Amino acid sequence: MKPFLLSLLLTLLLQPCTPLKPNVLLLIIDDLRPSLGTYGDPNARTPNIDNLASKSFVFNNAYAQQALCAPSRNSLLTSRRPDSLRLYDFYSYWRDAAGNFTTLPQHFKENGYYTQSIGKIFHPGISSNFTDDSPYSWSGKPFHPKTEIYKDAKVCINPDAQFARNLNCPVVVSSQPGGTLPDLESLAAATEFIDNKDKITGGKPYFLAVGFHKPHVPLKFPVEYLDHHPLENVSLPKNRWRPSLMPAVAWNPYLDVKSRDDISKLNLSFPFGTMPDNVTRKIIQNYNAATTYIDDLVGSLLAKVEQNNTVIILTSDHGWSRGEHGEFSKFSNFDVATRVPLIIHVPGLTHTEIIVDQLIELVDLFPSLVDLTQISPGLTTCARDGHNSKLCTEGRSLVPLMVKVKNGHKQVSAAKKAVFSQYPRPGPFPTQSPDSDRPELKDINIMGYSIRTERYRYTEWIKFNHTSFMPDWTTVYGKEFYDHLIDPQENMNLVSRPELNYVINTLRKQLILGWRYA
Ligand SMILES: *[C@@H]1O[C@H](CO)[C@@H](O)[C@H](O)[C@H]1NC(C)=O
Ligand SMILES: *[C@@H]1O[C@H](CO)[C@@H](O)[C@H](O)[C@H]1NC(C)=O
Ligand SMILES: *[C@@H]1O[C@H](CO)[C@@H](O)[C@H](O)[C@H]1NC(C)=O
Ligand SMILES: *[C@@H]1O[C@H](CO)[C@@H](O)[C@H](O)[C@H]1NC(C)=O
Ligand SMILES: *[C@@H]1O[C@H](CO)[C@@H](O)[C@H](O)[C@H]1NC(C)=O
Ligand SMILES: *[C@@H]1O[C@H](CO)[C@@H](O)[C@H](O)[C@H]1NC(C)=O
Ligand SMILES: *[C@@H]1O[C@H](CO)[C@@H](O)[C@H](O)[C@H]1NC(C)=O
Repeated sequence: MKPFLLSLLLTLLLQPCTPLKPNVLLLIIDDLRPSLGTYGDPNARTPNIDNLASKSFVFNNAYAQQALCAPSRNSLLTSRRPDSLRLYDFYSYWRDAAGNFTTLPQHFKENGYYTQSIGKIFHPGISSNFTDDSPYSWSGKPFHPKTEIYKDAKVCINPDAQFARNLNCPVVVSSQPGGTLPDLESLAAATEFIDNKDKITGGKPYFLAVGFHKPHVPLKFPVEYLDHHPLENVSLPKNRWRPSLMPAVAWNPYLDVKSRDDISKLNLSFPFGTMPDNVTRKIIQNYNAATTYIDDLVGSLLAKVEQNNTVIILTSDHGWSRGEHGEFSKFSNFDVATRVPLIIHVPGLTHTEIIVDQLIELVDLFPSLVDLTQISPGLTTCARDGHNSKLCTEGRSLVPLMVKVKNGHKQVSAAKKAVFSQYPRPGPFPTQSPDSDRPELKDINIMGYSIRTERYRYTEWIKFNHTSFMPDWTTVYGKEFYDHLIDPQENMNLVSRPELNYVINTLRKQLILGWRYA
């Protein structure tokens, strides 16, 4: 299709004054890395998500701004970066700590939509004021599955028939407390919402956000999903060791995984103990089975949704290491922790799979959804003193990129040259107390700033003042430089190669200048 025809189509379809706005369905799948069929994972079995992808934009290089739930979700939902929200842990609410910023669902609510949250969209607790940011963000009362209180209960069956708090936790649903699982409850609530949407919304278009809890730890899912994932079919990552010359500050000792009963009894030494291969294989198997379970729920939900009139977004808050670099979980700046799946279905525009290879960030979603639905003029870029502005973006609308890629353009000048993530640490060496995977603000003394370009990742771990929120680029605790052209898994830290000084220094300058110049 010619570009102008496409713009015309977009304009006709999504006209500001068309009375019928499309619905929006935002699916956030907790801790889901792109281990999906559509992203080429041979161990994945995700037919429903793959089917959605077959008529959507599929973003191959989408990155979270921090590989931790609350900071990433608040960043996605406000289109501001962790430094602007001053949130790197779970313990502050941006309206108190940073500014009275308008959220993505709030903007839809204020522009004629009925907004509803089901499951985990905002991270619950302090970081969303114990109300999922109600009443600002949501028209209806946010729904939380009742059985989520059993999240950490001893309900996983050991080989000796004892119950435990395991990481790998296939269960018989009918014998679970409450007779169900949280994501099954969320699916039922979402289905009920869609079945009764006219009554609930009073005829308004809806913005429905559904947050599934799995495959977050513990990997608790109906046991039958293991049938699709025979252990002998699971392939292990090839790089099950720390990258050579990796600084210790970069290492996340995955305490959340180690604290589960089945892993704890392995007595892995702190911080660098090695997970046995047969256990790694089992973790990957269970993660994939939990993902197939969620894929089934996504399929059931999508079967209810009017696909010709609903913009559907499927993404995650960050990735998850499954043995890559000898690590597990998130809590790092590596690709495996920061890269997320992102699938966007636009009715009338995406009839086939359209792969977007350009770099994009989760902060881009808010301005993109504004442009796709035209509920208001496009968002402007936040000024440096952006805390004074309720509505602005620290991302960039993806719509121009989507239109160009759809039209077959390979080189897109509008695309970002780099994307950014960050991760805090209490000190230069991994610690259990404070937990260096999840330091609280008062313990944060180091920030790892990371830039990813098409070819490289460069990360610098520098001094950070948790009172003034000021980084100090003159005090450096570690540097990492990975060349994806020769090392796509980030196994060789080449930062001390003198012959690479020029490119490293260029990246360092770009990193210090930050996202505004990318
Ligand atoms: C924050 O903004 C909302 C609307 O965007 C407004 O209702 C509320 O009063 C504001 N709060 C403060 C403390 O300014
Ligand atoms: C957060 O919740 C408290 C207690 O419900 C409430 O008093 C306060 O106004 C809320 N904060 C904002 C910014 O709305
Ligand atoms: C497991 O691998 C075998 C041999 O490659 C293959 O025939 C079988 O279909 C695989 N099973 C699943 C569930 O993928
Ligand atoms: C782990 O340590 C406990 C207590 O020291 C010991 O009983 C157990 O055998 C050890 N397990 C392994 C796998 O080494
Ligand atoms: C892994 O292998 C060890 C040694 O062969 C064995 O003791 C252990 O039970 C196995 N663990 C799992 C989860 O299969
Ligand atoms: C979407 O499809 C349904 C059923 O096929 C039809 O009734 C409805 O009018 C369509 N809506 C739009 C906006 O095209
Ligand atoms: C951090 O900044 C605060 C406020 O500017 C200052 O008082 C404090 O001394 C700084 N701390 C360190 C360790 O530099």
